[in-house]
Amino acid sequence: MRIGVLTGGGDCPGLNAVIRAVVRKGVEVHGHDFVGFRNGWKGPIEGLTRPLGLDEVEDILTRGGTILGSSRTNPYKVDGGVEAIKRTLAQEGVDALIAIGGEDTLGVAKKLTDDGVGVVGVPKTIDNDLNATDYTFGFDTAVHIATEAIDRLRTTAESHHRALVVEVMGRHAGWIALHSGLAGGANVILVPEKPFNVDQVVGWVERRFEREYAPIIVVAEGAMPEGGAEVLQTGEKDAFGHVRLGGVGTWLADEIAARTGKESRAVVLGHVQRGGTPTAYDRVLATRFGLQAVDAATEGDFGVMVALRGTDIVRVKLSEATETLKTVPSERYAEAEVFFG
Ligand code: F6P
Repeated sequence: MRIGVLTGGGDCPGLNAVIRAVVRKGVEVHGHDFVGFRNGWKGPIEGLTRPLGLDEVEDILTRGGTILGSSRTNPYKVDGGVEAIKRTLAQEGVDALIAIGGEDTLGVAKKLTDDGVGVVGVPKTIDNDLNATDYTFGFDTAVHIATEAIDRLRTTAESHHRALVVEVMGRHAGWIALHSGLAGGANVILVPEKPFNVDQVVGWVERRFEREYAPIIVVAEGAMPEGGAEVLQTGEKDAFGHVRLGGVGTWLADEIAARTGKESRAVVLGHVQRGGTPTAYDRVLATRFGLQAVDAATEGDFGVMVALRGTDIVRVKLSEATETLKTVPSERYAEAEVFFG
């Protein structure tokens, strides 16, 4: 059997660990051979390939990013994109495709399955917002990086008696903010799921200053004030209709400074959260996803995504995984609210 592999969307620590597991088990246990498609869906559309065998996956387990490259190309927005993919797969003699990606990449995988292409999905995103899996790989690494940043920012905030606003990624789901905020002992955590009241945030900040502590406010990039809107870096949309968010942290730090008279600073963690080597947890999760994905492809079990349920790796329908986003439930947010102020 010949299997194509691609990685799409924003990069994420653990992508290479999946690729390695897919190829190692695919070659050594099942006797398959592989072709790598470069740069997400752009690869099969434009016939951009690279060799993918045991040699190519040696020594990549701990490496961040993706050896295959990535892009946010949407074949359904490219003229003749789907036909081009089918043509490339036929030319390359590919029997199955393993697509590693988030909501957008796997949404395409679902549509392609309906259009007769054999695809198995693997859930990746630092945002942890894919449905039907308890966790996506990359999330643990992002939380780890954000928590370390909060710990470091706390000492400078305390020294200068400043409020520090830490803006983390998370367009529609506040999982990174919630987990890093809880782990880092933030005084306020703001998520896209619950518009915030600026007066209340300022009240919590003041309470913290009264107790001689410097407040740390963790805010997801997609969080917005009640009655307000998301803060955008640019209104321009990508091929999946996403605008580029960013700036809510600076906006909030300015509001806090103006209303409290205290110094405030904002730090935007941005792509640092997606960079570098994956944590041990993400290496193991990504490896187990890869092993299950190549088994699914071997069995011709297409239209599925591998998923974590408890401690088991299972298969779920791509449709189940992509129909809605997994956002932070109000009861999980309420756990964090206990520590506000
Ligand atoms: O892939 C998820 C994500 O990290 C989001 O949290 C963030 O909004 C987005 O990617 C940033 O995308 P880009 O790297 O294309 O600017």
